[in-house]
Amino acid sequence: MLRDSYNRIIRDLRISLTDRCNFRCFYCLPNGEPPLARKDTILTFEEIEYIADIFVSLGIEKIRLTGGEPMLRRHIESLISKLSKLKPDLKDLALTTNGFDIPRRAEALKAAGLDRMTISLDTLDTNRFRDITGVDSLSDVLDAIESAKRHGFEPVKINAVIVRDVNDDELVDFARFARNTGVEMRFIEYMPLDSGHDWDRSKVVPGREIYQTINHVYPLELKDASRGSETSWKYNFADGEPGGIGIIAPVTEMFCGACSRIRLTADGQIRTCLFSTAEHNLRDYLRSGATRSELVEYIENVTLKKEARHRINDSDFVPASRTMSFIGG
Ligand code: GTP
Ligand code: 5AD
Ligand code: SF4
Repeated sequence: MLRDSYNRIIRDLRISLTDRCNFRCFYCLPNGEPPLARKDTILTFEEIEYIADIFVSLGIEKIRLTGGEPMLRRHIESLISKLSKLKPDLKDLALTTNGFDIPRRAEALKAAGLDRMTISLDTLDTNRFRDITGVDSLSDVLDAIESAKRHGFEPVKINAVIVRDVNDDELVDFARFARNTGVEMRFIEYMPLDSGHDWDRSKVVPGREIYQTINHVYPLELKDASRGSETSWKYNFADGEPGGIGIIAPVTEMFCGACSRIRLTADGQIRTCLFSTAEHNLRDYLRSGATRSELVEYIENVTLKKEARHRINDSDFVPASRTMSFIGG
């Protein structure tokens, strides 16, 4: 089992497959800077499979594929079918995507063994969608959500980063969208991980306020009072309508104490926290010919260095060594 020095058990591995993205979301990658990683520094699928296999043997139960936009990595389905072979020790194989390619590829992803999909959607307004993401693709993303549902990805989760004076007027519209479509709508506090370094505390909409705004119109019921290591508080609609709400409030209600996550970047660096200021070069160690037991020892030692918590609210906060498009959320 992977255990850190604060006795937290690490069960979730989040693997970024690429640092490229075809969207330009202002809260993530506004300027679309060229990717840092060169092709030969990016882990191959064979390397990812091998590393994932080691992690699963160490007790990882959940793998989430992220990016950048993971669907830009060619033949992702073949990686997914290889990772599926790690089941049933691996209990959950999920993907975070901007959705642009899902209508064409949901079926193949399902056939390859993907269990779940989370799609990002920060507004229901066409013009605002273009302002936020830099592309004109709201209808594609709405199609992606339909397509994910149709192909049996259950539950389909939608991630919306809520930013003051950008989309905080859409909370109730989003809740209605969840009721009409049956999706789990997750609202995320804006974190200082944007490559434009535009984050500012005044732009954070507190989770508490998100809850109150929605609960006022559509009363909510807490789904489960003990949330374990999950990022969100989950709510059902009290009137029994389908769909649900999740609130992810890392800034105003830090959940690091129960963190179970570790991350692998596209270029093979282990990150022990979203906000780590240093990384651990698993790729070079692997490529230098380390044996499996040496890699296990390396991973166990790195896990012991996991940070207690993020320091967003501390006066001496130092930004993470990489921004969100490289880490993948
Ligand atoms: P499930 O696998 O469905 O439980 O989702 P998840 O919440 O683990 O993953 P997802 O990628 O959907 O997370 C949603 C958002 O929560 C991310 O995009 C991040 O903004 C934020 N988030 C995820 N993990 C962490 C974390 O470990 N720390 C902090 N501070 N924020 C996180
Ligand atoms: N703050 C919070 N969440 C973010 N994401 C990207 N940038 C940020 C940020 N600055 C999340 C979005 C997206 C996922 C990949 O990462 O929810 O869905
Ligand atoms: Fe875990 Fe770091 Fe996220 Fe806190 S900020 S929940 S320690 S990954």
